[in-house]
Amino acid sequence: MCGIFGICGTISKSSVNQCIEGLKKLEYRGYDSSGIALLDEGGIQVVRSTGKVEALEKKLNHLKDKKTISIAHTRWATHGGVVEINAHPHLDEEGSLALVHNGIIENFYEIKERLQSEGVRFSSQTDTEVIAHLFGKLYTNDLLTTTSSVIQQLEGAFAIACIHKNHPDTLLVTTRDKPLIIAVEPQSGQILVASDLNALYEGEFEIFYLQDNQIALIEQNKIRLFNKDLIPLNPNFEPVKIENTPHFKGEFAHFMLKEIYEQPSAIRRTLEGRYDIELNRILLNLPKSFDEVSKKVQKVIFLGCGTSYHAGCITAHFLEEFVKIEAQAEIASEFRYSEPLINPDTLVIAISQSGETADTIGAIREAKNHRAKILSITNVANSSIIRESDYYLLTQAGPEISVCSTKAFTSQLTLLYLVTLYIYQIRNQGLSSHPNWLKALRMLPAQVESVLQKKGEIQGLAKKTVNFEKVLFIGRQYMYYTALESSLKLKEISYLFTLCYPAGELKHGPLALIDEKTLTIALLGHQPTFAKTCSNIQEVQARKGPVLALYNKSQHLEQIQPEYSFLIDQEILEPFKPILYAVVLQLYAYYIALEKETDIDYPKNLAKSVTVE
Ligand code: F6R
Repeated sequence: MCGIFGICGTISKSSVNQCIEGLKKLEYRGYDSSGIALLDEGGIQVVRSTGKVEALEKKLNHLKDKKTISIAHTRWATHGGVVEINAHPHLDEEGSLALVHNGIIENFYEIKERLQSEGVRFSSQTDTEVIAHLFGKLYTNDLLTTTSSVIQQLEGAFAIACIHKNHPDTLLVTTRDKPLIIAVEPQSGQILVASDLNALYEGEFEIFYLQDNQIALIEQNKIRLFNKDLIPLNPNFEPVKIENTPHFKGEFAHFMLKEIYEQPSAIRRTLEGRYDIELNRILLNLPKSFDEVSKKVQKVIFLGCGTSYHAGCITAHFLEEFVKIEAQAEIASEFRYSEPLINPDTLVIAISQSGETADTIGAIREAKNHRAKILSITNVANSSIIRESDYYLLTQAGPEISVCSTKAFTSQLTLLYLVTLYIYQIRNQGLSSHPNWLKALRMLPAQVESVLQKKGEIQGLAKKTVNFEKVLFIGRQYMYYTALESSLKLKEISYLFTLCYPAGELKHGPLALIDEKTLTIALLGHQPTFAKTCSNIQEVQARKGPVLALYNKSQHLEQIQPEYSFLIDQEILEPFKPILYAVVLQLYAYYIALEKETDIDYPKNLAKSVTVE
């Protein structure tokens, strides 16, 4: 799950600098290690480094950067530890070729054993190195036929960029099940390859998305494209204008904090133009055929991973409760192998901030096999998931840099509320005005702002509770799903061991974990089950477990008297409460991580976009 960048035909700018710039923009795909290989008449030069791209940059001063072809890579470790020897590019035994890879070669072990038995020596633990050695073994002076023989033996998913010293004018790329773009800058004739559009610099490009098993040989001003049978093809380029907005933290210590504070405007932008207050109508500007889908739909399935899955859980609950259609949220990595009971009357709503998550793409493809209709909700225009879907809507959160997702989540929820209300409106010839959904949605940005104003109090709670060794989150109904999300936030950036359970489940096992060292964070927001959750809190307290309770204005805590508490004093409809509770607990997680001095924006072992299974 890595980022690939490559250049052919550098005319004016330094190709090394361009690779570094490209890699930095791809770091959200992994930041364990990075590397670069340059090809010119003198052969191949390779430099690699562990850590972020900055570390690689510092090692590059000695590289001779003439008219070169370059490939570069930023890695998120799948096979083999985070050590320099496992960083890409990987070479064949002779050092004749270098390649970078995104994906997983599932039969790498068999190929490796076979090659080893033939005397090939490996220097890394990666699956990628088998591709390099296989290439070296099968090499016939012809890059195209060699590549074709190599990929015929590979099982799994890959996007590969490769250079060979016998072909100093050629950059080769091929892919299966992984995105890879070829971008031509018409003005300079420079040709770039990259895992996605995010890697490109500002300007106008002609873009081609390489399809499964295609092979492209890129030379200066020339691209030759072939299918798996080596039949030449004409690439269909489309124009794309890249507008890079530089990412600054401004007055904030971390991107995460900045993004938490951007939530009122992100929600406002996501709502903008999507309703008519006079007519009490939602306007999604989707193709007319979506109305037909909404009328006929018998089942709605929300797909996503991590935070996006949690947004799906909350909305599935809302949709089933309000629109009265069967709805469920599924973890994409499970769904794709589950033989789901879906049909053309099922609407699948795929949720993904990045639009690139491999498991979500796999799950969409599974749903499409059953002819379900796909609506995707993403934050990134032109992303892979959009291209896989029948319909799409964009959240307007703006680029999210911090690995830990905050504003993307609350923007997803905002948009998913609109979608739910829209489906209701289509099926019921209008939106009910009791409650006044639109008014409630429009109040959300200001309500989030009020929560953010209490950051001092939240930081105080974090300071008081930072020494607990374990944290258990509990909630019921909407608050359970919100607790799941909050538990993920806390573990992700503080590295604390956190768990989450529906409050009623405690007595069926998790109570055994309760002691003085375990903090229970109870989300009491759901009014209909308030008394029940209070009883569960008392069960925790009876076992000496300290409690931090988050509660609403109309709720009274006399009966439980928790050690710590936080009041959310806005009047808000039940389905919208998750937004306010999530914001409080995002800040709480942030301040706990700050106390623990972790790398908040780039937590260990993670990546922003998960492009492998
Ligand atoms: C957690 C987080 C992840 C992502 C997940 C899905 O803070 O960011 O759990 O939500 O990897 O990513 P997307 O939404 O890009 O598909």
